[in-house]
Amino acid sequence: MRTRTLTFPEFGLEKAEWIERELPVLADDHIRVKVLAISLNYRDLLMVEGLYNPRVPRPLVPCSDACAQVLQVGSKVQEFKVGDLVITQMVPGWQDGPPPENAHHRTLGGPAAGVCCDFQDFQQDALIKVPAQWNPKHAACLPVAGLTAWNAIRSLPKWRSPAWVLTLGTGGVSCFAAQIAKKLGMRVVMTSSSDQKLTRLAQLHDVGINYRATPAWDKEVLTHCPQGVDGVIEVGGAGTFNRSVNATRLGGCIALIGVLADPDQPPNLTKALMKDIRIQGILVGNHKRAQEFIQFLQDNPIEPIIDKVFDGLDSIPSAFAYLKTGQHVGKVVIDLT
Ligand SMILES: NC(=O)c1ccc[n+]([C@@H]2O[C@H](COP(=O)([O-])OP(=O)(O)OC[C@H]3O[C@@H](n4cnc5c(N)ncnc54)[C@H](OP(=O)(O)O)[C@@H]3O)[C@@H](O)[C@H]2O)c1
Repeated sequence: MRTRTLTFPEFGLEKAEWIERELPVLADDHIRVKVLAISLNYRDLLMVEGLYNPRVPRPLVPCSDACAQVLQVGSKVQEFKVGDLVITQMVPGWQDGPPPENAHHRTLGGPAAGVCCDFQDFQQDALIKVPAQWNPKHAACLPVAGLTAWNAIRSLPKWRSPAWVLTLGTGGVSCFAAQIAKKLGMRVVMTSSSDQKLTRLAQLHDVGINYRATPAWDKEVLTHCPQGVDGVIEVGGAGTFNRSVNATRLGGCIALIGVLADPDQPPNLTKALMKDIRIQGILVGNHKRAQEFIQFLQDNPIEPIIDKVFDGLDSIPSAFAYLKTGQHVGKVVIDLT
């Protein structure tokens, strides 16, 4: 079987090349899939531009997140069968507990080959089964953005009872976190650089704050929620951390996820400890957490916020260019069906 793959022999969106090759005989512990939909993450863009890990091996096959259909299974594969709908796991083989020592050596979309291809063989521990009736474009949003948001919400104190959650920006992780929080009955404060985006996502928040128009957005959070929020989905990193600490209640939790804002800002650690705030680093999530999330979605269906769908493997560089403009809310998806 022939497959077409998007590769980057060098860093830079303009360096995209498509190669065609014959897939080898399927290994005993591998699964051959047809990729149906891919979703982009901020990490994928950094990876392609050489800003995530300048030493990542090239040619790079980018992107970690896909939904696919099983075409063939190796003789030692028991958990999957032909026709199953599957999603990828960004850190293959991470079953439970903390990440394995070699987690960063196996991540899909760099250093391991990613999902930008028609057909691909994966080791079985890189795939997770999802319900057959799920929409592939929706399912493709789950492996990183969805699971990271679920993991972050799960790390908050009182995550099952009424609580205030603060989400930063309107990207893939933050939109998912707001949707999950709403399903759990939490109240959401959402920040964004854009009033239009906040209006578009009005269903997902109780309070929307434009962080450009209101640079002291932490103070604004406290006018709506005087004790402070119970948890923060902290995707900004160093540049937003101190305001997140200000906006968090005593004994609250900050789920540390991303690095979008000014990395040189020094963190006010004293204030965080004086407020007894728990800082919880989040690395996507393991297989067990993913299965828990899939069950949650079965019981509480969520339609991911998809800003734009691009068509076909050839459109991926344009999809990346669109992601880079930051115009999107939620996810950018590529349909390969
Ligand atoms: N730790 C993990 O496992 C993990 C997993 C997934 C993602 N991440 C990280 O989390 C971050 C978000 O990822 P993503 O895929 O959701 O990104 P994304 O979809 O590209 O969303 C980025 C959005 O963040 C907002 N933003 C940008 N600068 C901001 C700032 N200074 N303050 C507040 N919001 C800001 C913008 O929203 P507005 O236009 O509305 O302002 C922007 O559209 C990235 O740093 C990514 O690497 C980490």
